[in-house]
Amino acid sequence: MTLKEKCPILQFTDLGDERGKLVVIEGGQAIPFDIKRVFYIYDSDSTVVRGQHANKESEFVLINVAGKSKVRITDGREEYIVELNKPMMGVYLPKMIWKDMYDFSSDSVLLVLASTHYDGKEYIRNYDEYIDAMEKYKSSEERRV
Ligand code: TYD
Repeated sequence: MTLKEKCPILQFTDLGDERGKLVVIEGGQAIPFDIKRVFYIYDSDSTVVRGQHANKESEFVLINVAGKSKVRITDGREEYIVELNKPMMGVYLPKMIWKDMYDFSSDSVLLVLASTHYDGKEYIRNYDEYIDAMEKYKSSEERRV
């Protein structure tokens, strides 16, 4: 599976009408997990890089509900960059994906849906450590197939 297939762009359905737009995201339906946590990032700007970590347990969906930002996504082998610039689009990040969020517009509100409650211990914040962990993770994945 390519990185783009592992981390697909999600297009949400617009239930809006002449009164405005409405997007509904139900855990397990529009996204592939039950939502346990929601957080949002705003007041970042184009000089800031956030994220810079991978998560051993959490899956995420990132949505710019206002403004725009970019997400650089890698699994240590492939890399791709997504511009989040529409409230109706998101990107799904499974476990063990390294992400950097940057280039925030001044009006950016980046909404994050997570499959877990917060646990700082499941974060890998050192890239070399991530690459080592990925080698082990991939060989255990390959053994499972
Ligand atoms: P951090 O992981 O650096 O944010 P980002 O991924 O957006 O760059 O989190 C910043 C601080 O907030 C850090 O001290 C951990 C804390 N935090 C929580 O307590 N709960 C959460 O759900 C998140 C995402 C962060």
